Amino acid sequence: MTRPAATDATVTRKGRFIVLEGIDGAGKSTHLDFVCATLERHCGRAVVRTREPGGTPLGESIRSLLLGESAGGTDIDGETETLLAFAARRAHVEGLIGPMLREGRWVVSDRYTDSTRAYQGGGAGVDSDWIESLAEKIETDCIPDRVYVFDLPADQAAHRRNGRNPSMDRFEARGCDYFERVRTVYLRQAERHPGRYRIIDARLTVEQIRLELEKDILTL
Ligand code: TYD
Repeated sequence: MTRPAATDATVTRKGRFIVLEGIDGAGKSTHLDFVCATLERHCGRAVVRTREPGGTPLGESIRSLLLGESAGGTDIDGETETLLAFAARRAHVEGLIGPMLREGRWVVSDRYTDSTRAYQGGGAGVDSDWIESLAEKIETDCIPDRVYVFDLPADQAAHRRNGRNPSMDRFEARGCDYFERVRTVYLRQAERHPGRYRIIDARLTVEQIRLELEKDILTL
């Protein structure tokens, strides 16, 4: 499958697109403020901060369906999760990410297509070729310039989740086997694209991780 290289895509837009990824409990939320503040110092302008599923009114409605807040007790299979995630993503790319990047803004998203690759592809076993064909159609030229994958063994992430959040969403309630499959896809994706992806060892201290992120952000 041929996709435009990120370097080709960035020729037609001036902004940068940065994404944070990782299994639930790996610590991406802990570092989101720091990443945004460091990027703002680096690019000299406020970044556009967004999330998936979400980022637009339609995307936020889909988020509550996907996370189970209003699924009415109905279970959602992996293929349907995939379509919901991409429906939200299309609205996000068309309504926010694309226009902002074309204006030259830097966009930071808490999750993007790698969540679908990892959770639906890895976790739920949805066909990866199908996911890639949807990704190609929906992302258009909004391909991340940098993806930080916060990596932590699934049992340690479960421990962190349990310590902080008594009310779990549909995904957080899944077991360690599911999250290990999700993690494996993240790591494989990062290994396939070493130029654009950085694996962050989430077992390090917050301070060590900040240093690593800051050093990398200065290269963007
Ligand atoms: P998360 O980003 O962890 O938000 P919070 O910190 O508020 O819990 O939750 C989003 C959940 O949605 C997460 O468990 C992963 C899941 N998800 C998918 O399964 N597929 C997707 O394509 C996306 C974007 C998210």
